[in-house]
Amino acid sequence: MKPSEHRRMADVEERHWWYRALRRRVVSDLAADGLRDGDPVLDAGCGTGGTWRALSRRWPALDYTGLDPAEEALSAARAAGAPRLVRAGLDDAPPVAGQRAIICLDTLYYAADEAAALARLRGALRPGGCLLLNLPAFDCARGRHDEAVGVTRRYRRPRVAELLRGAGFAVERCEYWNAALFPVALAWRAATRSSGGEARSDLAMPPAPLNAALAGWLDLERRLGRLLPPPFGLSVYALARA
Ligand SMILES: C[S@@+](CC[C@H](N)C(=O)[O-])C[C@H]1O[C@@H](n2cnc3c(N)ncnc32)[C@H](O)[C@@H]1O
Repeated sequence: MKPSEHRRMADVEERHWWYRALRRRVVSDLAADGLRDGDPVLDAGCGTGGTWRALSRRWPALDYTGLDPAEEALSAARAAGAPRLVRAGLDDAPPVAGQRAIICLDTLYYAADEAAALARLRGALRPGGCLLLNLPAFDCARGRHDEAVGVTRRYRRPRVAELLRGAGFAVERCEYWNAALFPVALAWRAATRSSGGEARSDLAMPPAPLNAALAGWLDLERRLGRLLPPPFGLSVYALARA
């Protein structure tokens, strides 16, 4: 991932509709799972501290560890107040075992061996602990965003479930989300794929009313998705248990 993308992420992640929606999903699932202050949580590929901020607003005394191989990410996460940060990647042994929950958001595709990385995460969870995994979905949605962020693989739901089961997890949910924008993103990414120029992510702040509307829409989609999971989406999200 380019250092400029870490800067871009740190600049927008507190406000941007996509990050807000993803973190609400994570916080809502961990709350429903009974996470408590003091519980050990590992954020594998923690980025610039946005997930830590979202978690700490709900659980101020969480026993949080973030790991990331990029110093730019760690220094931003440190500035955000993340209490324990380790410079390491998914191909290394997780620094701490006995985790109550592991969060791995848009990072697994960096692992040289994703099956081995998932098996290591599984080994770092205590029995009954949960993994929350988010990944980019559908190869046809590939664009210059993927190039800038270093997304080497996009995933389909059956593949994610298979990888999780292969690593010894029980898969409780594995679903697509961000479905309404799927056609728009396909058109945008196809257009920008062929436009040439420097690869950059799609992470730009839209005007405030549009940003609020998109965040609200994704919240609604999350609630509706409980009843009727969408058959496609720009991301695939799973909750799996050790
Ligand atoms: C797209 S960002 C997502 C960050 C964070 N999970 C979030 O949702 O805000 C991907 C992060 O994974 C980190 N990363 C890159 N290679 C990695 C690896 N092999 N293992 C773990 N993290 C990695 C990058 O430095 C970057 O901070």
